[in-house]
This record gives sequence, C-alpha cells and structure tokens, in this order.
Amino acid sequence: MKLRQSQLLNKNWLFARGFVAENAAQVMSSGSAVVLPHTVVEVPYNHFDESLYLDVFCYQRVLETTLWSAQQNGQRALLMFEGVMAVCDVYVNGTLLLTHKGGYTPFEVDITDALRKDGNDLLSIRVDCSERGDTPPFGGQLDYLTYGGIYRDVHLAFVDPVSVAHVKVETADVLSSQVKTRVKVNLRQPEHHREIINVIAELLDPAGNLVSTVERAQHSDEGIALDFPQLAEPRLWRPEAPHLYKVRIRLGTLNGVDVFEQAFGYRTAEFKADGFYLNGELFKIRGINRHQAWPYLGYAVGPRAQRHDADRIKFELGFNLVRTSHYPQSKAFIERCDDIGLLVFEEIPGWQHIGDAQWQAQVMRDVEDMIVRDWNSPSVILWGVRINESPDCDALYKETNRLARALDPTRQTGGVRCIPDSTLLEDVYTMNDFVHSGDNIILHDQQQVTGLNHNVPYLVTEYNGHMFPTKRFDAEERQHEHVLRHLKILDRSYGADDISGCIAWCLFDYNTHKDFGSGDRICYHGITDMFRIEKHAAWVYASQLPPSEKPVLHAVTLWSRGERSISGCVPLIVLTNCDYVEFQYGDQPARRVYPDRDHFPNLPYAPVVLDERSVNPAELGEWGLAWDGIKLVGFVDDVAMTEQVFAANPQPASISVTLDDSVLSAAEKELTRVVIKGLDQMGNPLPYWNPVVSLSVSGPARIVGPQQLPLIGGVAGSFLETTLQPGQVELTVSVPGFDHQTVALTVIEPQEKTSC
Ligand code: GAL
Repeated sequence: MKLRQSQLLNKNWLFARGFVAENAAQVMSSGSAVVLPHTVVEVPYNHFDESLYLDVFCYQRVLETTLWSAQQNGQRALLMFEGVMAVCDVYVNGTLLLTHKGGYTPFEVDITDALRKDGNDLLSIRVDCSERGDTPPFGGQLDYLTYGGIYRDVHLAFVDPVSVAHVKVETADVLSSQVKTRVKVNLRQPEHHREIINVIAELLDPAGNLVSTVERAQHSDEGIALDFPQLAEPRLWRPEAPHLYKVRIRLGTLNGVDVFEQAFGYRTAEFKADGFYLNGELFKIRGINRHQAWPYLGYAVGPRAQRHDADRIKFELGFNLVRTSHYPQSKAFIERCDDIGLLVFEEIPGWQHIGDAQWQAQVMRDVEDMIVRDWNSPSVILWGVRINESPDCDALYKETNRLARALDPTRQTGGVRCIPDSTLLEDVYTMNDFVHSGDNIILHDQQQVTGLNHNVPYLVTEYNGHMFPTKRFDAEERQHEHVLRHLKILDRSYGADDISGCIAWCLFDYNTHKDFGSGDRICYHGITDMFRIEKHAAWVYASQLPPSEKPVLHAVTLWSRGERSISGCVPLIVLTNCDYVEFQYGDQPARRVYPDRDHFPNLPYAPVVLDERSVNPAELGEWGLAWDGIKLVGFVDDVAMTEQVFAANPQPASISVTLDDSVLSAAEKELTRVVIKGLDQMGNPLPYWNPVVSLSVSGPARIVGPQQLPLIGGVAGSFLETTLQPGQVELTVSVPGFDHQTVALTVIEPQEKTSC
C-alpha cells in the first residue's frame, strides 16, 4: 500500500518586491533565494510601521523535472497552500490559474494542464500584503498586525483524476454502548464525471490496530457515506488522555488506488446553561487567547514552533483551552492541540468591522474553509462565526450560523461580542467582559449581559488586556496588581455555575498598529512577553495545574524593600498549588502559611498571601535598616516539593542561556527560541540589570533579529533558524565581565526526503 504522493515545496523559491503580470512567464533577474515559511519583511522588535510590508511581492519557483519522477501517468498535479497573507494570485507559465483571498485559510490549485514538464515550468505567485478593504479582517482598524508572505507550508501532490479531497468523520451516541461512526468522503473529479468507484474504509484504533472495515462500490458522482459497525467502548479523547483514532480510505478508481488517512477522536462537548460538559462531565474552561505572531518573523514560523506554543499553553501555563483569536491558526498548531488534549475555540478572521456584501461573501467562505479544514479535530469544541466584537448584524450572522450548523451539526457555535443585549443567534453567548478595573465588580452576571430572563450557555472570551497593560519589566506594584486581577477573575469564573469558564486576554504581547498599544507598536497585554517569557501573571494559571503534574511556587516579588511606594514588601502573593508554604525571613524561625481561601474561595489552588494576617510587617525590619533574604518552601502532603530563595543583596552572578530544542531537523527550515537571563547568586533574574549581550553562531543556523541586544528586566529573547544543512550549531553569548556561554544543538539529517 502506498499513501498518496505529496511533498513539501518550501525550498528554492525566488522572492522580490513588486509584481508585473506580463513578466509572470519569466524568471526574475534580481530575486533573492528564500525558503518557506517566509515573511516579506523581517520587522524590528518594536517602533516600526506596517507600511514596511503593506505592498505587493512576487514569489517564483521553477519546477524541475525530478519533481515529475514521482508522478504516474494520468495523475493530476496539485499545489496546496496552507496560508498566504493576504491575497494571492497563482500563475503557471504566465497563466493566471487562481486568485485566493484571505490569509488564514488553505487553498489548492490544479496546475496539471498548464505544465510543460520540461524543467522550465515556472510558478509565479503574486502576494498582496496590503490591508485590502475587500477582504476580512481588513476594512477597519485592527489591534494586531497581519504581516505578509507565503507564511505557511506549500505542498505539491499527485493524485488520480478521481481522488479524495477530504473526509468527515461523524460520531454519535459516543457515551452509549453503541457508538456510531460514519465517514463521509468528498471527491475531486472532473466536472460531469461518472465512473464506478470502490471505497474501502478502515477504522484504526489509537495503537494502529484495525478495528473494522466497510466497503462499497458506487458511482463517483453520488455522495459517499459509510457506517462502521457500532463500537461498545471506544477510548475517548480526553484532555488527560487524548486518544486519536484514524480512518483510512482506499479509493479504487479507473486509475488506481488513492489512499487517504484522517485522524479523529471520540468525545462529546456541549455548552449548557449550567456550564460546559466534556464527555458528559462538567468541565470548567480555563483558557487563553492566542495570536499567531512572533517577533521579527511575524507569522512566518513553521510547525515546530507552533507546536511549542501549544505545549507551553497546556503543560507550562496550565490552560485547558486556547481561542485562536482572531482567525484560523496553522494546521500544525491545531493538530498539536489534538495530540496533547488542549481544547480549541476557533474563529473566523475579523475584528470589529463588517464590510459590504462582497466582503460578507468572503466571511461565508471563511466559515466554510475553517470548518472543512478542522471538522475532524476533536480539540475544536466551538466554531466562532461572528466577527470578533462586531455590532449585531442579524442577516449576516443568521447565515454564518446556518452554514456552520449545516456543515457540522456536531459542534455548537459562538460569536464573540463586547456589547450587551446583542442578539443571540449562536448556541453559546460568548462575551468579552472587560468590566473589572481593579476595585469594582469582577465579572458581569450573565443575565445582565444577555438581557435575557433565563440563563443560556455562556462563556467569557476575553478579560484584562487593555484594562491593565503590564510589561514584563514593569515595577513590582504593577505586576502585583496584574496578578491580582487575573486571580480575581479566574476565581469568579470558578465560582459561577452559569459561566462555562473564562479565556484571558492574552497569551503574549504582540506588535500592533499605532492606535493601539504603548506607542512602541506593542500591546503589552500578554501574560508573557513577545518571546513567550513569563510575566508574574503567567503563574496565576500555571499554579492551577495539579501538584502531581508539577509542583508550582512563584512569589510575586522582586524582594527589594525599596521597590514599592512607601517601601515594604507585603502583601506578597505566592502563586502555588502546594498545600502550604513555609516562609523564612533571614534566620528567623520558618512560619507556615496556608492558601488564602478567604479571598479566593473558588480557585482549584488559591495563592498563599503573606500579609498582616500571616506576618507582622514590622518583623521584616524598617526601611533603610537591615534587610534579609527569604526562603519559601512549598509542601504537598507534608513533603517539601519546591522552593524559591531570594537574596537580601542580589548581585549579578551568572548568565544563563537556554534553547527550546537540542535537536532540530534539516528537512525544513526550523526555529528555536533562545532565552538569556542575567541571574543573581540565588539564580533569580535581576530585573534592573540591563547589560548588552552579544550573540554569535557557528554551524547551519542564523540568528534571527539583532546580534547585540540588552537584557530587559534581566532577560532577553532571540531565535535561531536552521539553514537546511545538518550539523552542529553553537551559539555563544557574551556579556562584558562574564565568561561567555556556549550552548549547542544538533541539526540532524532528515530521515526521508519529504520536501524539495
Ligand atoms: C478586545 C479585542 C482584542 C484586544 C483586546 C485588548 O477588545 O477583542 O483583540 O484588542 O480587546 O484588551
């Protein structure tokens, strides 16, 4: 058996600014060689203008004859794009074959008839990166940047004239003893074509064992739906054990057999008026909003770094859901969410603005493209079918809801709004609740928002964000307040039976337009910075992980008595999932402090708060006089599990350099993050030590961004990007006065050739 021939077509592209349609049949004379995923302009970290990339660009690729060796007679050649920002024209040998609008959805082009296969076939791709008013999300103002380029993978596939375009696996009665599985198969075939086909569908369990097979012979122009024999107890897809099954379709046609595989999972997901139910059990959503941007590279980051984000969200930060604000994100990201059991609320592109009829027609295409791409992903539990925070527009949103339900009756719809009393056309009332400003109510009651006199399925989809932008390097008091607001809202969500959960704004800081953010083109709304380096508030969520998974203890302090207004260091919040914390000041006896259930009665793991209830501030000495270090030890079941120690007199002691990966593959261009920290003698970052660090690299990788940069708040981020060669990469980081640090990683030879 041979799976269909498909290869990545990411290498050997030529790139230049500008595009002249008349020249689309000629190789450009002055392009630069690039590898996809690619951003049209690598932007500075901040203080830049989007006009840098709001332009038209050209990508070209000569299709060498070796590409055709894989092709069997009579097969079709398909170019598949996972995402091109923002509007893209595909030419082959000077002929325009397709225009695709919208930067977040995949599309494919059958290029067979335009080919000569003489080794000189030329793909010319016109990429318009401007914020064109005719295409969502554009037309109004956006609080984020969209960058530009062929920023996701491109594939070249060879298929028979009749082939599987996509399949949909529908499961029913999943919690019963008679679980139904139906697979619907959608074909590509020439117009008005009809032949007898043979469809064999195999169901494979998570270990890859064949569970059952069904077979059918029929005409190719009739809808294909096959039912597998009922299952008694399939292994459910659950966040803690995300079992994935697979269907394998063997499609027998006049030309041969097309083999296509699709993963899926058995689970139920339902929002009700009294909360969200996953596999029949009440499940409180603790979510985070994610943009898909990175410093310098914008959106152009391949699957590995996408997967790192998903892992970070679930395993390091302790969230159980991610909202893909405000557009469909990469397939690699969604598939990683399937693999690790992270729930997804996926939504169509858009931000506050609704355009004209043509624009709205594109919204409908976006709904369809998003759903068809991801309807087999068990992680996706809700379709967002309203432009984020747009005003009511019942005609449009009746249609988006109708279409979503018709395409996928197995999932509910949501539509994120920020206006109260808006028409509920979706299944779930999804509300950005920015009411909390520090000393007022924490979240609205749902009926106050909906204007209804009964409860409905209700989810808080954003909070905090612009209400309290906080930089990783802000002063302690601000960080403290940032933490408190996240704690209070999360606690309130846990305490409200009629709120399915809450989704914080947002995962990381992001570059934005001039009318948003802090004047430097960054919105500092993240619980991490743009490099995904944690602010204190990140531990609000990380500390909600059960201690059996990871004991967490993080004190929201710089431990410096003069840092706060009027001096002092209490109240001191210790974010922890431990049963209690032992606090020791200098050599005074340790004191046991329990989680603060008075103020946070609903959180799975309330923080320990050192304040006048647990310590006498006077015992911590007077400002300007003797000042001592502290030790905090977290206990679970009376066993010391984790600790933090702070020095009274912190001094620069060492530089730490870490990479997210130790092994990368030379198969594709890959990115790994570098984190550099200036540490004191206790291993804590020194928030006000800002020396310049110099980076140099040897081996098959380059440094993305500047090679000299300051530590900011004691920390700096950078990236290494591989150059497609195998070998040993060494990164050296130097800081005047310190021994330089060298870290290494290995780029390994690809196992098999999958790309060209
Ligand atoms: C919301 C919006 C987000 C972001 C956030 C900042 O209104 O949906 O995209 O701008 O505000 O808090």
